[in-house]
Amino acid sequence: MRGEDEHTIFLKDYAPSPYKIENVELDVRIDPGAARVRALLTIVPRDGTPPGTPLVLDGDGLALRSIAIDGLPLALTAYDETPSALTIIEPPVKRFVLETEVQLEPETNTRLMGLYRSNGTWCTQCEPEGFRRITYFLDRPDNLAIFKVRMSAEKALAPVLLANGNLVDSGDEANGRHFAVWEDPHPKPAYLFAMVAGDLGSIHDSFVTASGRTVALGIYCTHGKEAQCAWAMDSLKRSMAWDERRFGREYDLDVFNIVAVSDFNFGAMENKGLNIFNDKLVFVSPEAATDTDYDGVERVIAHEYFHNWTGNRITCRDWFQLCLKEGLTVYRDQEFSSDERSRPVKRISDVRLLRTAQFPEDGGPLAHPPRPSHYKEINNFYTTTVYEKGAEIVRMLATLLGEAGFRKGMDLYFERHDGEATTIEAFLKVFEDANGVDLSQFGQWYLQAGTPEVSISDSYDPARQTYTLTLSQVTQPTPGQPDKLPMVVPIKFGLVGPNGSPMSYSAVSGGRVDGDIIVLDTASATLEFSGVANRPVPSLFRGFSAPVKIRSTATEADQLFLARHDEDPFGRWQALQDVSMAMLVAAAGGQKWRDEQIDGLSRAIAETATHPTLEDAFKALAITLPGLTEIAQTKASNVDPDAILTARNSMIEEIVARAGSALESVYATTQNSAAYAPTPAQSGQRSLKNAALAYLVRGLGKRGADLAANQYRQAQNMTDRFAALSASVAAWTPQAAGLLGDFRTMYTADPLVFDKWLMLNAAAAQDETIDRMRAILADPDFPRNNPNRLRALVFSFANGNLTQFARLDGEGFRFVTSFVADVDTRNPQVAARVLTTFRSWRSYEPQRRTLAEAALRDLQQTGQLSRNAADILERTLAG
Ligand code: BES
Ligand code: ZN
Repeated sequence: MRGEDEHTIFLKDYAPSPYKIENVELDVRIDPGAARVRALLTIVPRDGTPPGTPLVLDGDGLALRSIAIDGLPLALTAYDETPSALTIIEPPVKRFVLETEVQLEPETNTRLMGLYRSNGTWCTQCEPEGFRRITYFLDRPDNLAIFKVRMSAEKALAPVLLANGNLVDSGDEANGRHFAVWEDPHPKPAYLFAMVAGDLGSIHDSFVTASGRTVALGIYCTHGKEAQCAWAMDSLKRSMAWDERRFGREYDLDVFNIVAVSDFNFGAMENKGLNIFNDKLVFVSPEAATDTDYDGVERVIAHEYFHNWTGNRITCRDWFQLCLKEGLTVYRDQEFSSDERSRPVKRISDVRLLRTAQFPEDGGPLAHPPRPSHYKEINNFYTTTVYEKGAEIVRMLATLLGEAGFRKGMDLYFERHDGEATTIEAFLKVFEDANGVDLSQFGQWYLQAGTPEVSISDSYDPARQTYTLTLSQVTQPTPGQPDKLPMVVPIKFGLVGPNGSPMSYSAVSGGRVDGDIIVLDTASATLEFSGVANRPVPSLFRGFSAPVKIRSTATEADQLFLARHDEDPFGRWQALQDVSMAMLVAAAGGQKWRDEQIDGLSRAIAETATHPTLEDAFKALAITLPGLTEIAQTKASNVDPDAILTARNSMIEEIVARAGSALESVYATTQNSAAYAPTPAQSGQRSLKNAALAYLVRGLGKRGADLAANQYRQAQNMTDRFAALSASVAAWTPQAAGLLGDFRTMYTADPLVFDKWLMLNAAAAQDETIDRMRAILADPDFPRNNPNRLRALVFSFANGNLTQFARLDGEGFRFVTSFVADVDTRNPQVAARVLTTFRSWRSYEPQRRTLAEAALRDLQQTGQLSRNAADILERTLAG
């Protein structure tokens, strides 16, 4: 793999293929141990293709059994077969039909790309380059074709046969076999192809579209799990209705099916009319899933459904444009969740994710623009930058253009590009054309890597009644991009007066201000607001209006003021975080906070937690201190995770010493014996209760530990049980080990709950953690090939357990690199993803930095890595 295939793909080399595959007919015969795929491809040279131009089809691990053109078998000299390609040396000059037959081994396909078998079910995953593992093809997103597939299998093994589009025929064959023929009338790239064969249960429902068409909805799953699919079905129907309401988008087939499978490399996949899901994003029940799991199911169901318009009907010209479908669709699913639930709470959660995942990526060796210019392995570019920063870019467009202007652009996008494979430029152009604006500088967001840092300072002149705001921006160099241009930064703002109410001004000069948006598009700007009666406190980046790092000179007093008075809930949350963050970063660097500081913070937390009108879910987020990763990220260099953990723990203890009674009363008043429902009100109440519990468990000693143990035992749902267990493990209470053992035996039969147990084992900030994980992995019954199990244990450890991952004896780093070396031989994508957790290794203090580097270099010495893992490793060490 490595060496022979280390070429880099460049965006600038994009060219349409000389041939187009218009039509695909697959005949797939499925048997245990082998599947045979016959493909009839109708191929035509594109205009201008010179006669004699070879046709090069992609292939990966295929065994060619026969090959013919227009019914005539090809001579050995007429084609060339390599492990990655099938070349027809001199194809016909007019439309022709290429017929191939290949043999596959789904059972041994541990990479889970192409056709594989999960728990007995045959299923496929083709994005981005998996279709070439099913048949020889132009496996690139700009080849749109009509697909028809005939599948046959033994009826007893696979009573259910599904593929994209509509079922057009089915029936029995000899020897207990049966068949089904599915046809998808919409042209699509091969990455959206899917088929499933297996013995599955299902639930069914229907949706009537705005124009009155009835769509049959189905969710397929392991027998016995049907009841756990109800929430997914409900989420699907709400998603379909929302896309009609909010974007005027109707579904376009008579059938929409979802299949839940247990072995899946990602969360879910938007195959046309046949979404395939990781079962952890379908199955939920009050006993086995948390509120967070319910939110996740709702969100991912929506995301994959929304791809039908943003991704499927309008797809990507090439994989450099991945952000075109993913960033936009994440924006759409974020908006859906905001409309269905609490907008501020959703925004705060999304910003936390951005800061804990995307900012570290953007500030480290794996930094890349949302639209990269080159790649070695496209699978490594399904990143938080493409997804979450991509969504932020769309959000900024909506902020700058306003809701109506944004919608006009989207309408034009759907109108102009429906049925096409297109680009980021085309996407930006529709907003320019629909609104008469120039977005050329704005477009830099797609091209430039790194998180801009915006510095803010201000002053007030009482004599002249003017308020001056100085803003400047800088973006640090990233790999391959030493020089950065100023970005277009929309800053949603308000001026808050001394009594907490909004302050007006009569005029502003020195920069671009559009209503409540300052548009910073130069390296720096000094805005002068006149007619300002008193010194205002500025509330900037309301709703986190741009994905930047904010360097503010605001005083602690001003921040506490905003925490209480900002009309923007995000601003209130941010202000409180800023206060605790500054204290934590200083303390982690050896500068302990002063008593007045912790007093003020504790008062603000108590006041927020007991506030009469704020919503519970918001309070929960507001009182929760920044996590270790966020603190490390803010500290940026010389990171010592032990010092950060110590600072955070002692802050919790000191807050409980001051605000303990408020937190206890919150804990008492948020108890609720109503039957579980995943409603915003109930889940908000649970999150506030459990946020208070997390404080009390650490801060109240034995009494706190008992509270958690009691909640664990008496819990009526997984949200409360898991929260109590997590808090016990985090504080490692005297009961923690016993409760963990109980949890393990209580849910032995449910793999998704087993994952929660694995995550908790991985999360303990305890010296025994690694030994315990080694023992779990060494158990012969551990499912060594299931991505969910592996990620629950090892990814969550490396990503979340900062102190044990970065242990001072290097064991954490070595545990992870040796895991990567092992898993890489079976599933390179899981290995590569785990390896990305080293991306911040240079920000550790010198001793840990040396240890991390040594572990990575050792891994490199093995020399056996997949292209996926080698690419990540190489960039991680080089950056
Ligand atoms: N198209 C992706 C699935 C995918 C991911 C294919 C990586 C190939 C490589 C799908 O739409 C997706 O983005 N899924 C996310 C979840 C989503 C809610 C962000 C996932 O699988 O994590
Ligand atoms: Zn997606």
